[in-house]
Amino acid sequence: MPPQAYPKADKYTDLNTIYTECSGPGGLRLTEFMAEKMGLRPGARLRDIGIERGYQTCFLVKEYGAQVIGLDPDDDRTDGIPHVEHLYRNSRAWGVENQVIGLKLGVPETHFASNTFDYVHSTTTLEMVRGILGADFYRKCLDEIYRILRPGGIFGLGEPMHLDVPIPADLSIYTSGEGAGPEGWAKCFATIAETEAACRAAGFEIIEAAYAPDA
Ligand SMILES: C[S@@+](CC[C@H](N)C(=O)[O-])C[C@H]1O[C@@H](n2cnc3c(N)ncnc32)[C@H](O)[C@@H]1O
Repeated sequence: MPPQAYPKADKYTDLNTIYTECSGPGGLRLTEFMAEKMGLRPGARLRDIGIERGYQTCFLVKEYGAQVIGLDPDDDRTDGIPHVEHLYRNSRAWGVENQVIGLKLGVPETHFASNTFDYVHSTTTLEMVRGILGADFYRKCLDEIYRILRPGGIFGLGEPMHLDVPIPADLSIYTSGEGAGPEGWAKCFATIAETEAACRAAGFEIIEAAYAPDA
């Protein structure tokens, strides 16, 4: 199979900046992978959930012409500044400030009307919500996303997945132990089949579920 091409993401070559501004492992490449799968089109009403510093949010506006509302309830761990403030800073730097709104809110309490959005994009956020707050809360988040999407709307969900095998011993330091929380990160990671089942239970039809090559 030829290597996956990322013509949009690979225009942005400063990886130090990209991975300072995106906390997830996939960065802009994962967002391009998902936007292509989602068939994102100019003018689409998109909601981005869990924006960190809004770099992917700005990318979705700049490269795909979407009108985006980015949601994040938290403040940045490193500087204490609300993530939505970082989104506004980045949106000015990217020249997309007129197509971006940031709201300090999280799923499942979004307060949007039902059947409102064409697309929802979310990467490396909901698995942490599930790991920290549990499967019932995760299900409430999926229900809320389903509620606010218009009929036929598309949800692009990017989560770190695990294969259905034991976690290798040399990776256990990253999934348990100091820095990984009292119960470790392992409970944040599901298999594709588990995530598909949770999405189906919320009412979604699965169009495609796969491992992204660069994430
Ligand atoms: C690991 S970061 C991922 C950021 C970005 N999407 C990426 O892939 O680089 C997870 C983000 O989700 C946010 N978050 C946590 N709980 C949330 C919730 N209930 N709703 C929306 N965002 C949430 C965190 O504040 C954090 O910015």
